[in-house]
Amino acid sequence: MKNLNPMDFENDSLLSDLQGNILKGHGRDHTTNIFLQFKNTEKAKNKAKKWLNEFAEKNVTSFKKQLRERDLFKRNKIDGGIFSTVLVSASGYDYFLGIGKQTKLKDMAFIEGMKKRIQLNNDPKKEDWEGGFQHDSHILVILADDNSNRMGAFSKNLLEEIQEFADIHCIQYGNALRNANGDGLEHFGYVDGISQPLFLKDEVDAYMSFHAITDKNKLKFDPTADTDLVLVKDPYSKEANAFGSYFVFRKLEQKVQKFKKRESELHFGELGGASIVGRFEDGSPVSLDKEDGIIGSGNFNNFNYDTDPSGGRCPHFAHIRKVNPREADTQKRIMARRGIPFGQRNVSTEVDPNFEQMPTGGVGLLFMSYQKSIVDQFEFIQQAWANNKDFQHSKTGIDAIIGQSDDPTARTYNFPIPYGKAPTNLPANQRQFNQFVDMKGGEYFFAPSISFLKNM
Ligand code: HEM
Repeated sequence: MKNLNPMDFENDSLLSDLQGNILKGHGRDHTTNIFLQFKNTEKAKNKAKKWLNEFAEKNVTSFKKQLRERDLFKRNKIDGGIFSTVLVSASGYDYFLGIGKQTKLKDMAFIEGMKKRIQLNNDPKKEDWEGGFQHDSHILVILADDNSNRMGAFSKNLLEEIQEFADIHCIQYGNALRNANGDGLEHFGYVDGISQPLFLKDEVDAYMSFHAITDKNKLKFDPTADTDLVLVKDPYSKEANAFGSYFVFRKLEQKVQKFKKRESELHFGELGGASIVGRFEDGSPVSLDKEDGIIGSGNFNNFNYDTDPSGGRCPHFAHIRKVNPREADTQKRIMARRGIPFGQRNVSTEVDPNFEQMPTGGVGLLFMSYQKSIVDQFEFIQQAWANNKDFQHSKTGIDAIIGQSDDPTARTYNFPIPYGKAPTNLPANQRQFNQFVDMKGGEYFFAPSISFLKNM
């Protein structure tokens, strides 16, 4: 379904049984992500089921509720309160339903779990993951709130409630970073979350008006997405209109100080970093055509690479070009990204800190995404594009931000100098850009319908 209109009564059963955060981000600035494994006794299992039924009934935020809260906030500035969602891993389904590989949730990556896909994704070996992620988690509970004290108190109660029948393997905390405009940043200092698939009619209308375009056929990049891009029928709910979505969680640590130092050594100034990401720090795409204008273009997303085939403006190894080449047949790979930064900084990005003031570790991105297929969306993007030095052209190099490869030549890049000219062969010491993002662990999940969670 395209251009979903929440006002349309026909969509009511879908919206009230679907968990929030899938078709639109919850928008809260603080999150608590609790990974847990239920204890392996019949008694614990019964208690766990009962707890989940009640938690789904009372706390899990439906998409309908999320939208209502968004409207209240827009109109009356009434804060939506705590947002909650529950994600279940393949081992979680196995624990509750005892179905193992016979599951009706057919995505192979989900069935196997992230640890069995280490080689495919070229991830670090399991022994190098953070301790908590080395265990199998049955479920992940995400709480989100703008009020971190309220969220802290709520999660404290929750942890006390479940400790009798569950082992908490790890808790990850997310904290949004914002620039003066209020745009969300990631730790390297770039605005994130600009390019997203848009499912709701009002979001598509806002996109058209932001880009001052009335005729959809004139769009250079149309983010209008069918709900099929992320939704899957929930095979374990008895309700007719029950949907869920596959979910990816990855903890990605960012070596900020080293990244920023290397970025500054790229001898073409601000353009250096923009060539790595594909956007300037404020979000302006590095590949804009003249007619698109430059000033105030931070949230600009109506562009493609048709007039930049050689990568003279946006190199093929730049993060956003690797992970979304913006061609008609690559639209089906797009995911709904819902990540949030983690870790505290002593000096805010707003101050434009000195290298010595920048974090050397302990900060990064809790990458999260919803999709219809982990194999065809997240994994395809990571494996076939980001980790592939020959995508889109031979010897392009891997994704400069998230590429993972053992090949020593995979991070040797031809930067376009001067801007606009086809990339040239630079001296060897100018061409290397190392890996500054390290994967610390994660898991694949499914976000089931609320009716499933309530009646399990
Ligand atoms: C620490 C790790 C990461 C950092 C610092 C990062 C940073 C960014 C930034 C700054 C943008 C531009 C904002 C926007 O267009 O929305 C972006 C976009 C994007 N990122 Fe990442 N990202 C990271 C990890 C990932 C991963 C693991 C994936 C998927 C495998 C991914 C996929 C995307 C996609 C699909 C876009 C939108 C591209 C477009 O449509 O033009 N990112 N990222």
